[in-house]
Formats: sequence, C-alpha cells, structure tokens
Amino acid sequence: MANGYVPLALRAEIKNFLNKTTYRHALGAEKIGVKLAIRFGEDPQKAAIACLLHDCAKDMDHEEQRAYMKHHGIKRDLKYPRLSALFHSRTGAHMARDRFGITDKDILSAISHHTVGRKGMTNIEKIVYISDFIETGRRYIGSKKLRERFLKDKSITLNELALEVAKEKLTYLIAAGHVIHANSVALWNELQEKKLRDISMENSDK
Ligand SMILES: [Fe+2]
Ligand SMILES: [Fe+2]
Repeated sequence: MANGYVPLALRAEIKNFLNKTTYRHALGAEKIGVKLAIRFGEDPQKAAIACLLHDCAKDMDHEEQRAYMKHHGIKRDLKYPRLSALFHSRTGAHMARDRFGITDKDILSAISHHTVGRKGMTNIEKIVYISDFIETGRRYIGSKKLRERFLKDKSITLNELALEVAKEKLTYLIAAGHVIHANSVALWNELQEKKLRDISMENSDK
C-alpha cells in the first residue's frame, strides 16, 4: 500500500498508533487523496500525509478528547456543545504536530477542517475533506456514487466534488436531526453560489 509519498518511519508510527479500522480508513483516504492531488495539480505528498493522519486523534473517546484539549489548552467550540464528534479534528491537528512532528501548515489545517469544512478551504483541505468521505472503505451509497463519479468523470472539478460532499453531509445531518456547524453552511453557500454563477455565465455566452 505504501506509495512512496509518506516516510516509512511516519507510516510505521501511525500504523502502530491507530486501531485497525481507523488505520484502514486512513489508508483508503490516502490512496484516493493522492489521486485527487495528482488530478488537480496539488502536492501528492502533502495530500498523502494529511489523509493518512487526518483521523490520528479519532481513537480517543469523548473523555480522552476533553482531557487532551484541556491539557494542551485547545479551545473547544463552545457554540456547539453537542458536536463532540468534531473534537478529533482539532485534537488531531495538534497531535499531528506534537506527536508526529508535522509542521506543514497546509497539512495541519487540512486535518483541523476535515470534518465540517469551512468557507475558503484550500485545495489540500478540500482533498482531505473529500477523501475522508469517498475512500473505498466507506460503504455509504452517497460515498460510493461520488467515488465512482470522480473515477469516471474526468471533467468534474474539485469544487464540484467538495460541494457534493457538503450536500451529502448536510442532508444526512438534517435527516438525523443533528445540529449543523455554521462552517458547513458557509462552505455550502460559497460553493453553491460559485456553481450558480458559473452556470449563468455559461448561459450568457450562448
Ligand atoms: Fe474524522
Ligand atoms: Fe476520517
């Protein structure tokens, strides 16, 4: 599975650190993340490392997450006390730096924003956000369809993929009656606005 983009020592360390399921998911994300990076002209090494480490804090339970945040002075998003599932993005970015020695800001911010996204995401952030959702271990039908679309449709853009991921996530959250983070709504609005603008420009050219 090694693709040469991740230093062997880092790969061995993260493999040893994560439980099997999380590591398998991280490997799946890494694999598709490299494909996305190559397709969209981004650095495949950054994508590989960010994807491989994106869930490095995922195996800690709720209490461990809280304790880790408290110990390291990581601020919790107090507006969203119910969204404890999001803790691992912030703790993960901290851990990637502290525990795994990652200093690259693009990689750290991609880990930090991989769950809810945000307005103005960088391409590496979008790649991790998308890879997390469409990697082959995801059995969810929306993930499968989008993965197939990415592999078959060479004209699909990174923004279109990120928009589809945001749509799937928002639809799921609303259907399940969950609270939605404002950053997810901001991401959706930004990308949808862009899509609508592009469509109206295309029509005015005809
Ligand atoms: Fe995650
Ligand atoms: Fe993940």
